[in-house]
Amino acid sequence: MQAISVQSAQGQYDIHVGDALLQGVGVGIVKRIPKARVAVLVMDQSIAQTWAREVAVSLEAAGLRVVTHVVVASEENKSIAQVEKVWRRMLTERVQRSDVLCAMGGGIVGDMAAFAASTYMRGIATVMLPTTLLAMVDAAIGGKTAVNLPMSSDALDTSVNSGGAKNSQQSLPTNLTNNVTNNLAKNMAGTICAPAWVVSDVRTLSTLSAREFRCGLAECVKHALLADEPMLSWLEKNREGLRAMDPARLVELVHRSASVKATIVSRDEQEHGERAHLNLGHTFAHAIESLLHEQVHHGEAVSIGLVAMAAASQAAGWWPDADKFQLSKRLADLGLPIKVPAAVDRAQLKNAMKLDKKGQSGAIRLVLLKGIGHPGVLDAASEQVIHAGLDAIGA
Ligand SMILES: NC(=O)c1ccc[n+]([C@@H]2O[C@H](COP(=O)([O-])OP(=O)(O)OC[C@H]3O[C@@H](n4cnc5c(N)ncnc54)[C@H](O)[C@@H]3O)[C@@H](O)[C@H]2O)c1
Ligand SMILES: [Zn+2]
Repeated sequence: MQAISVQSAQGQYDIHVGDALLQGVGVGIVKRIPKARVAVLVMDQSIAQTWAREVAVSLEAAGLRVVTHVVVASEENKSIAQVEKVWRRMLTERVQRSDVLCAMGGGIVGDMAAFAASTYMRGIATVMLPTTLLAMVDAAIGGKTAVNLPMSSDALDTSVNSGGAKNSQQSLPTNLTNNVTNNLAKNMAGTICAPAWVVSDVRTLSTLSAREFRCGLAECVKHALLADEPMLSWLEKNREGLRAMDPARLVELVHRSASVKATIVSRDEQEHGERAHLNLGHTFAHAIESLLHEQVHHGEAVSIGLVAMAAASQAAGWWPDADKFQLSKRLADLGLPIKVPAAVDRAQLKNAMKLDKKGQSGAIRLVLLKGIGHPGVLDAASEQVIHAGLDAIGA
């Protein structure tokens, strides 16, 4: 087992990464949260009959009363309505402030359930049990919890709309809009509330689809680009072992990649500066997602976004020999997409980039690289820089 320590405003917490850790969750919770009597297990439907059962057994064996709640993972269900269901269930079961909620699943269930925990009775302890690669290396770390808000909400529309256009995403001020997909304003309500413990059992990845696994790999490449070249070479060298789901390699992958995020959020939990670097490639990615959400998953958009980022970094003069680095080839070798999969209107794409929350007053703000391990923020990217990025991905 590997351990990573994370600093937060609420104190330090551990991320444990290993193979077959789920049976130890109950004992670990009793040790960390000794006053807990009830464990609320909010789980992704995909793992309810498999991995979540192991956790429930372990919680009961440790003397905790287990309350279960199953959620279908969809962005529509990352909602305040689902949060209310969790709150009500906890109230009915007389869950106390001293009790614990375990959020088990991918990032969708993790974000929603952790939001419910961080607000119920002004906050009860949360244990994150991520079961997707993306959640293990990204979503479960750093304490950001969230739900999406429907764009058709009248309150949202009238309070922010100055131009008269009803329900149009263009009518939202840039600082309020994160990522608008499927008429959902993503992650519009949330908290930053550190978990008490994160347990990543790589065995759970054995049931994940190959596509979802690759989506997680894209975030691992992002973390490697933020960290150093050896991490990227390691990924390439171990490609086959990872594809074969070799547990030792998976543990190393998650440990290395989660460490990058853990280091950054330990220094800047509230995103005053450095945490924004984790958005590398994401302004392009969010724009691609908002136009092609039916075809492109987030991790795939991130992969394409990283290709655009490298070209933009070169065009901005930040990373003069970016092309020699052959990021496209490296991503393609990992089975990740490097071009937009369908024709998109460039003007629409640029508009979507402006709507990303990182943009200030119409200017497009990009996280770029000055080389591997050297990210920075370009506040107002020029047309030339943006077009270089879009040219590189065939947009
Ligand atoms: N809080 C943060 O800092 C943060 C960071 C990045 C992403 N996110 C959020 O994370 C979400 C995306 O997370 P995700 O990529 O994990 O997607 P997800 O939660 O949709 O999971 C992907 C799919 O895999 C299924 N699944 C989960 N675990 C499985 C397993 N072990 N075996 C089989 N199937 C399994 C799910 O049911 C789902 O269908 C987004 O909503 C995003 O906003 C949050
Ligand atoms: Zn991402």
